Amino acid sequence: MGRPKVYIANKVPYEVEEYIGKHCDYEKWDKDEEVGKDELFNKISDKNGVLLAGIKVDEEFIDAAPKLKVVSNATVGYNNFNLDAMKSRNIIGTNTPNVLNNTVADLIFGLILASARRITEMDKYVKDGNWKAPADNSLFGVDVHNSTLGIIGMGRIGEVVAKRAKLGFDMDVIYYNRNRKLEIEEELGIEYSDFEDLLKKSDFILLMTPLNNETYHLIDSKEFNMMKTTSIFINASRGSTVNEKALIEALQNKKILGAGLDVYESEPIEIDNLLLKMDNVVTLPHLGSATERTRSQMAMLAAENLVKGVLGEVPPNAVPELIK
Ligand code: DGY
Repeated sequence: MGRPKVYIANKVPYEVEEYIGKHCDYEKWDKDEEVGKDELFNKISDKNGVLLAGIKVDEEFIDAAPKLKVVSNATVGYNNFNLDAMKSRNIIGTNTPNVLNNTVADLIFGLILASARRITEMDKYVKDGNWKAPADNSLFGVDVHNSTLGIIGMGRIGEVVAKRAKLGFDMDVIYYNRNRKLEIEEELGIEYSDFEDLLKKSDFILLMTPLNNETYHLIDSKEFNMMKTTSIFINASRGSTVNEKALIEALQNKKILGAGLDVYESEPIEIDNLLLKMDNVVTLPHLGSATERTRSQMAMLAAENLVKGVLGEVPPNAVPELIK
């Protein structure tokens, strides 16, 4: 058998490319914009492996790549995988867990602080020349310390957010998850809550659950109606875990105080999305893991998964749904 053939569909650092080149013949996409469908499907037609970051891997993709054995996602979320289609062709899928946990948790705290203390809104206020007198209560925010943070989805990122909240900000942390995490409860002094109680009690509601059939629009009008009118909603998971129309309606009707968002139902967000018109919403362009160091580590991990997969080994981060 000759060397495996792979396609690198996202820009990666040079050392990552070099590592792949030691084990495989490769072609790459190296422009900043996302590779177009025609180019992608043409390139993957003779490839055994593809490295990508969030590009949809659906039936059409799989049909375009008859020799495909492994798709390595350089992200932790893998809602871009059509798991049934991949399973039916025995294609392995991999992701990049753990290396990004602290980086995403830092950004989540940025969203919490920015929304609570209106940091981005006030930055604009100052730069627009509106600061003419000492701040009165129209500029006041809400406290983060000593408030209650409710985390929906206590995975690895949720855990490091909880640590920051508990140890750094003296927050009460409650969480809802499919499985209770007794060790983490004990280690950090956080409490398990049922879903509805969490919505009713939390000052900050952080949504961190992966997107799948069960979590699609997990937060909808009914859930916003249960939240405190003083609560702030934070989403750094995937946009479609929330019904964005219901979120907009909740903000417009003051059912919640504000929101801090890194993800949207459609990305990049459309310029006429009403969320962009609201002062009490902090909007980031899906930057959770976006630091130089972490993105490099994710790309290298994705490359290691890719190489192992095309060489016929089980990659360390094979997604569980796709391994027998
Ligand atoms: C991931 O890796 O899934 C993150 O959302 C990227 O920032």
